[in-house]
Amino acid sequence: MEKYYVFIATVLMILHIVHAQDQTGFISVDCGLTPGEPPYNALLTGLTYTSDAGLVNSGKTSAIAKEFESGYSKPTLSLRYFPDGVRSCYNLNVSRDTNYLIKATFVYGNYDGLKIDPNFDLYLGPNLWTTVSTNDTIEEIIHVTKSNSLQVCLVKTGISIPFINVLELRPLRKNVYVTQSGSLKYLFRAYLSNSGRSIRYPNDIYDRKWYAFFVEKSWTSVNTTLNVNATNGYELPEDVMATGATPLNVNATLNITWTVEPPNTQFYLYMHFAELQTLRANDIREFNMTVNGNFSYGPYSPKPLKTETVFDLAPEQCEGGACLLQLKKTPKSTLPPLLNAIEAFTVIEFPQMETNGDDVSGIKNVQDTYGLSRISWQGDPCVPKKFLWDGLNCNDSDISTPPIITSLDLSSSGLNGNITQAIQNLTHLQKLDLSNNNLIGEIPEFLADIKSLLVIDLSRNNLSGSVPPSLLQKKGLKLNVEGNPNLLCTSGSCVNKGENGHKKKSIVVPVVASIASVAVLIGALVIFFVLRKKKPSKVEGPHPPSDGRSEPAIMTKNRRFTYSEVVTMTNNFQGILGKGGFGIVYHGFVNGGEQVAVKMLSHSSSQGYKQFKAEVELLLRVHHKNLVSLVGYCDEGENLALIYEYMANGDLKEHMSGTRNRFILNWGTRLKIVVESAQGLEYLHNGSKPPMVHRDVKTTNILLTEHFQAKLADFGLSRSFPIEGETHVSTVVAGTPGYLDPEYYRTNWLTEKSDVYSFGIVLLEIITNRPVIDQSREKPHIAEWVGVMLTKGDIKSIMDPSLNGDYDSGSVWKTVELAMSCLNPSSARRPTMSQVVIELNECLAYENSRGGASGDMDSKSSIEVSLTFGTEMSPTAR
Ligand SMILES: *[C@@H]1O[C@H](CO)[C@@H](O)[C@H](O)[C@H]1NC(C)=O
Ligand SMILES: *[C@@H]1O[C@H](CO)[C@@H](O)[C@H](O)[C@H]1NC(C)=O
Ligand SMILES: *[C@@H]1O[C@H](CO)[C@@H](O)[C@H](O)[C@H]1NC(C)=O
Ligand SMILES: *[C@@H]1O[C@H](CO)[C@@H](O)[C@H](O)[C@H]1NC(C)=O
Ligand SMILES: *[C@@H]1O[C@H](CO)[C@@H](O)[C@H](O)[C@H]1NC(C)=O
Ligand SMILES: *[C@@H]1O[C@H](CO)[C@@H](O)[C@H](O)[C@H]1NC(C)=O
Ligand SMILES: *[C@@H]1O[C@H](CO)[C@@H](O)[C@H](O)[C@H]1NC(C)=O
Ligand SMILES: *[C@@H]1O[C@H](CO)[C@@H](O)[C@H](O)[C@H]1NC(C)=O
Ligand SMILES: *[C@@H]1O[C@H](CO)[C@@H](O)[C@H](O)[C@H]1NC(C)=O
Ligand SMILES: *[C@@H]1O[C@H](CO)[C@@H](O)[C@H](O)[C@H]1NC(C)=O
Repeated sequence: MEKYYVFIATVLMILHIVHAQDQTGFISVDCGLTPGEPPYNALLTGLTYTSDAGLVNSGKTSAIAKEFESGYSKPTLSLRYFPDGVRSCYNLNVSRDTNYLIKATFVYGNYDGLKIDPNFDLYLGPNLWTTVSTNDTIEEIIHVTKSNSLQVCLVKTGISIPFINVLELRPLRKNVYVTQSGSLKYLFRAYLSNSGRSIRYPNDIYDRKWYAFFVEKSWTSVNTTLNVNATNGYELPEDVMATGATPLNVNATLNITWTVEPPNTQFYLYMHFAELQTLRANDIREFNMTVNGNFSYGPYSPKPLKTETVFDLAPEQCEGGACLLQLKKTPKSTLPPLLNAIEAFTVIEFPQMETNGDDVSGIKNVQDTYGLSRISWQGDPCVPKKFLWDGLNCNDSDISTPPIITSLDLSSSGLNGNITQAIQNLTHLQKLDLSNNNLIGEIPEFLADIKSLLVIDLSRNNLSGSVPPSLLQKKGLKLNVEGNPNLLCTSGSCVNKGENGHKKKSIVVPVVASIASVAVLIGALVIFFVLRKKKPSKVEGPHPPSDGRSEPAIMTKNRRFTYSEVVTMTNNFQGILGKGGFGIVYHGFVNGGEQVAVKMLSHSSSQGYKQFKAEVELLLRVHHKNLVSLVGYCDEGENLALIYEYMANGDLKEHMSGTRNRFILNWGTRLKIVVESAQGLEYLHNGSKPPMVHRDVKTTNILLTEHFQAKLADFGLSRSFPIEGETHVSTVVAGTPGYLDPEYYRTNWLTEKSDVYSFGIVLLEIITNRPVIDQSREKPHIAEWVGVMLTKGDIKSIMDPSLNGDYDSGSVWKTVELAMSCLNPSSARRPTMSQVVIELNECLAYENSRGGASGDMDSKSSIEVSLTFGTEMSPTAR
C-alpha cells in the first residue's frame, strides 16, 4: 500500500501567484527592540519587524555581547529576558483554525555576561513545545491555531533566565503540511545544491529557510536556468526547485540518512521534485522511494519543470531511530533518481486543551479593568495546573475538554471602581470573592444570572445602593455583604438591627449541599470552644465589637447534645475529617445545614475524661474570632464529644505543602493568616481570664475558614497558668518536636514566651515553605538553617521559591527579622505576642501598599541582615 501521496497543483493556486512578497498575516517581532522604537525592515529579507510592546507584560531588553555581533544581524542582535516570575508569555493575535509556521530564535550571546548556557522550557499555550538548551537555536513548528489568540511562553526551570530574540509567525495555506494528529516540529529542511547558499524570504513566500545540502563525492548537481513552475500548494521558491541532485553512478541509489531521538519518534517527510533536464526520446527517469528498506512510493517520474510534492499521509517511524531514505531507480529507468528538496518534521502532540475562550477573554477583561499586574497572570489561566493563575480555581479534570474557571478570588487586591461587567462573562463561576477592596457603586443584577454561582463575598468594600432582589432570591446562594457601610437594605433583607443597635450586615442563604460542603477536610482537626453555660459576664465586660471577641459562629438551641443527636448529626459517623489529639473528628450538620466538626473522645483514652473536662472548662471562658469556636458538646456516660465550627479550608500546613491543592498562598495571604493567628494567640495570653499558654502552636493548628480567615485550634494541651505571684507553671513537657521552645524544654518552665518561640517557627515556615526538621539539611532544624543562611548573607535562598519573588521585599525582611527575634534562645528577649501583632500588621501594610505591582526584589535586596551566633541570636536590619 502506498503511504505517500503526490501533491499536484489543484484549485485555488492562482490566488497565490499574485502576492509573492506580501507580508499579510505575518507577525515579525524583534523581542529586544525597545518598546516605542518604530518598526524597521531587516536588511536581507526586507521583513518588517516590530517591538513586542503590548504582546508581553514582563521582562527586560538587552543585546548580545559585542564579540558575538559579527555572527548575527538584526533582529537577532537583541533580546528580551525574563528575570521575574516562572512563566512569561507572549500573547499573539492570530487567525483561528489557521496553519501557522511559528519560529522562535534564541541566541544567548552572553548578553548578561554570566556565560550561563540557556536551559528553559518553551510552551505553546498550555503545552510543552521544547526545551531550549543550546546557545544558538531557532525552534520552528507548524501548528494549527484553535482560537484567535496564541500564547508562546518561556518557563524557567533552573538557574537559567529565559530569553528570546525573535518571534515570527507565517500563515500557511490550509491544505499543506497536514497531519493525522499533532503539530509538526522542524527536523530539517534542505534543497540539494552545492551552492552553500541558504534561501528564505522573500524568495520563499512563507519564509521557510532552505539550507543547501550536498554529498560531494557520489552526487552530481542538476540545474536549470529555465523557469520551474513551483506553484503547487507548498509554494516552493523557484531557486529551490531549479536545482537538484542525482547519484553519479546511474545504477546507484540516492541515499539520505538522519537520526531521531527518542528512537520511536514519529515523523513526516515532504519531498519536492521537478525534472530539470531535457530528456531525450528514449530516456526514462523512474524510481521508487523506500525508508529503511520499506517501500513507500513509486514508481515515480518527476514532471518537466513542474513541481510535485510527495509526502506522508501517516507518520513514519525508523527502527532504532536511524533513518535511511533511498530513491532507487526501477529497471527500466535509464537515468538515476533525482531529488530537488526535502523537509522532515517530527510529530508533537499537544493534548492539553486551552481554557474555554469566553472564560479567558472574561478574566483578561477583569484583569484589564482593574489593572491587575500579578506576575502569575500570564499565559493560559488554568493550565498547566502548576501555572494556575493566583486567585483562580478551575475545573480541568478532563484534558480533552477546555478547562473552565470555577472560582475567582480577588479579595484584598486593592480593587477600585465598580464591580465590572466583565465578570458576567465568567459563566462557570461557582465562587466569587471580591471582599476587602475599595469597590464602589451598586451591586449589579447580572450576578444573579450566573447560574453556577454558589458563594459571593462582597464584604468590606464601599458598595452602595441596595442588594438586587434577584440576588436575594437566588436559591442556594451564599452572599456576604457585611462591612459595606453605605449599602442600603430593604427591611429585614440584609440588616439585622440587634436590640443593642449593633449592626450586622450579612445575608446567609444556606447553601444546599453545595460543592464546598462536600469537600472533605483531611488532617488534624482538633478544635475547641465557647460554651456560655457559666456566666460570661465576668469575662466579657462591655467592649467594642472590633477587639476580636466574637459571637459563636453557629448558635444552637442547646449546647449540650445527647448521644443520639450526635449520631444523627454525623449521619452515624459517616464522614471522617481527621484524627485529633485524642479522638476521631467527624463531619456533621446542625440546624439542618450548618457544618460542624465533631470530635469524639475515644473510650480507650486513659486520661481522656480529665482532658475533656479541662477542655470544656477552658472553652467556657475563651471566645475570639481567631480561635476555632465550640458549638456544643455531648457528655453522656462513656460518650464524650465536642462539636466545633467546621473549618472548610483545612489547616495552614496543607496549604503550604500543596497537599490540599496546587494553589500557592501568596505572600499577602500568608501574612494575613499569621496576623490573625497572632491575634488569637495574643488573646489567649492577654485577653482571656485566666491567661493561657497554647503550648502547641504549629501550622497544623492554624485552621482556615472558607474565606481563609485563620483560627487557632487545639487547646487539648492548653493549661491555665496563674499570673499572680508566679510567672510560670511547671508541667510535663508537651508540644510538637521542632516547635518546642528549647528553654522550656531545658527548664520545664512554661511561659507564654514558649508560644512566641513556636510562633517564630510558624513564621519561618511561611517564609521558607520548608520542613521544620529536615535531616538531609546541613542544619536539620529550620531556625538554625535560616540562621546559617543569613550569616552567609544568602538571603534570597531562604525564600519560598514558589512565591516567584512576588512580594514586597521590605515586608519579607521585616518578617524574617521578627521571626528570628521570636526564636531568641532567651525567652526574655523574645517579643510579646502584642508586639508581634503590631509588627506583623506593619509587614502586611508594606505588602498591601505595593498595590498588586509585581515584586521588585532587586531594588530592596540590598538590605542586609547581619547575625551573630553564640548563645544568642540578634538580628539587626540595616
Ligand atoms: C489583539 O486583539 C484585541 C482584540 O481584538 C485588541 O484589543 C488588541 O489590541 C490586539 N493586540 C494587538 C497587539 O494587535
Ligand atoms: C555557543 O557555544 C559554543 C560552544 O560552547 C561557543 O563556541 C559559541 O561561541 C557560543 N555562542 C554564543 C552565541 O554564545
Ligand atoms: C549546476 O550544475 C553544474 C553541473 O553539474 C555544476 O557544475 C554547477 O555547480 C551547478 N550550479 C549550481 C548553482 O548548483
Ligand atoms: C504552473 O502550474 C499551474 C498548475 O498546473 C498553472 O495553473 C500555472 O499557470 C503554471 N504557471 C506557469 C507560470 O506556468
Ligand atoms: C547499470 O546497470 C546496467 C544493468 O544492470 C548495466 O548494464 C550498466 O553497465 C550499469 N551501469 C553502470 C554505470 O554501472
Ligand atoms: C545507499 O545505501 C545502501 C544501503 O545502505 C548502500 O548499499 C549503497 O551503497 C548506498 N549508496 C550510496 C551511493 O551511498
Ligand atoms: C517496514 O515497516 C514495518 C512497520 O513500520 C516494520 O515492521 C518492518 O520491519 C519494516 N521493514 C520491512 C522490510 O518491511
Ligand atoms: C518499484 O515499484 C514497482 C511498482 O510498484 C514495483 O513493481 C517494484 O518492485 C518496485 N521496485 C522496488 C525496487 O521496490
Ligand atoms: C462578553 O462576551 C461577549 C461575547 O463573547 C462580548 O461580546 C461582550 O463584549 C463581553 N462582555 C464583556 C462585558 O466583556
Ligand atoms: C459606578 O460607580 C459610580 C460611582 O463612581 C456610580 O455612579 C455608578 O452608578 C456605578 N455604576 C454601576 C453600574 O454600578
